[in-house]
Formats: sequence, structure tokens, C-alpha cells
Amino acid sequence: MNHNTRSHAWFRLAALYFAIGIAMGVTMGASGDHSLFAVHAHVNLLGWVSMALFGLIATVRPSITEGRIATAQFWTYNMGIPVMLGALTLRLKGFAQAEPVVAVASILIGVSVLLFVWMVFSGVGETNEGLSAAAEESRTS
Ligand code: HEM
Ligand code: HEM
Repeated sequence: MNHNTRSHAWFRLAALYFAIGIAMGVTMGASGDHSLFAVHAHVNLLGWVSMALFGLIATVRPSITEGRIATAQFWTYNMGIPVMLGALTLRLKGFAQAEPVVAVASILIGVSVLLFVWMVFSGVGETNEGLSAAAEESRTS
């Protein structure tokens, strides 16, 4: 995938999770009901913070978005997060049956993170093309 498309997707997703995370924070503050604080914390940290980092890393190291492993990393993360957070919400609201769903989705997120670690350690994206492209752009504009 074109790295711009992938990093834009990460940025848009990050912004959406930020909006949800903040809305939850404000709601918790206003209502005094903090029962979902762990969901709020992970919407912000796994959603907003981590996704913004994936987008930024893809901008500086564009080749990290290329290939099947990068696509698998993107989709395992983006399937795992909403399922994990949705099931965790149900779990914290008293639906004990949701617990195995939290577990399976967490494992999916873990797989995504391992794929990311593999890409970083195997040197995928270890070029300066993003930085030199940015430098090129600022020279020519
Ligand atoms: C308008 C913005 C926000 C509001 C009003 C808000 C509000 C809250 C509230 C009420 C709690 C529950 C505290 C408790 O019961 O212990 C909480 C916990 C938490 N929030 Fe936020 N939050 C906001 C933004 C954020 C952001 C942007 C992040 C991360 C990037 C974040 C990360 C956390 C974490 C990690 C916890 C758990 C802290 C703990 O371990 O007790 N929050 N927040
Ligand atoms: C699959 C990924 C993850 C799982 C399954 C997970 C699970 C958990 C669990 C079970 C707790 C204890 C909750 C409690 O005692 O109520 C916790 C707490 C916490 N985690 Fe995570 N975590 C994950 C990823 C992360 C990441 C990536 C970050 C930071 C970038 C993070 C930050 C925190 C923080 C700040 C707390 C304390 C606040 C809270 O209890 O919600 N977690 N996490």
C-alpha cells in the first residue's frame, strides 16, 4: 500500500479514538461513574497514542507500510482493538461471558504487535526515504 494512504488511515483512526477517549473521559468526569476508566485509558493509549505513533513511524519510514506483513499488522490491530474494547466494556458492565472475547482479541493485538516488532527488527523501513522525501519536498516548494 502507498505509505501515504496507510499513514493517513492511521491518523484518521487515531483521531477517531481520541474523540471517543475524550468523550468517555468527560462523561466519567461529569457523571462520577468511573466504572469504564480502563476502557477510556486503553481507547486513548491503544487507539489515539499508538495509532498516531504507527502513522508517524510510517511517515518517517514509509517502507514499513509495504508488503503482506504490514497489511496483516494493520488489520490484526484494527480488528483486535474495537473487539477488545467493546468486549471489555461489556465485561465491566457485568457480562462475564464477554471475558473470552477480551482474551482472544488481546491475543490478536499481541500478534499485531509481534508483527510490528518483527518489521522493526528485520530492518523493514530502515531507510531514510521518508526524511529525504520530506527534505526534497521542502527544497522544491
Ligand atoms: C478531556 C480529557 C480527559 C478527561 C476528562 C479524562 C478523565 C479521566 C477520568 C475521570 C479517569 C478516571 C480516574 C479514576 O477513576 O481513577 C481517567 C483515567 C485515565 N485516563 Fe483520562 N481523561 C482525559 C483524557 C485522557 C487522555 C488523552 C489519556 C491518554 C492519552 C488519558 C489516559 C487515562 C488513563 C491512563 C487513565 C487511568 C489512570 C489510572 O490508572 O487510574 N485520559 N481519565
Ligand atoms: C492487548 C493489549 C493490552 C491489554 C490486554 C492490556 C490489559 C490491561 C489490564 C488487564 C490492565 C489492568 C486493568 C485494571 O486493573 O483495571 C491494564 C492497565 C493499564 N494499561 Fe493496559 N493493556 C494493553 C495494552 C496497553 C498499552 C499499549 C498501554 C499504553 C500505551 C497500556 C496502558 C495501561 C495503563 C496506563 C493501565 C493502568 C490504567 C488502567 O487500569 O486502565 N496498556 N491493562
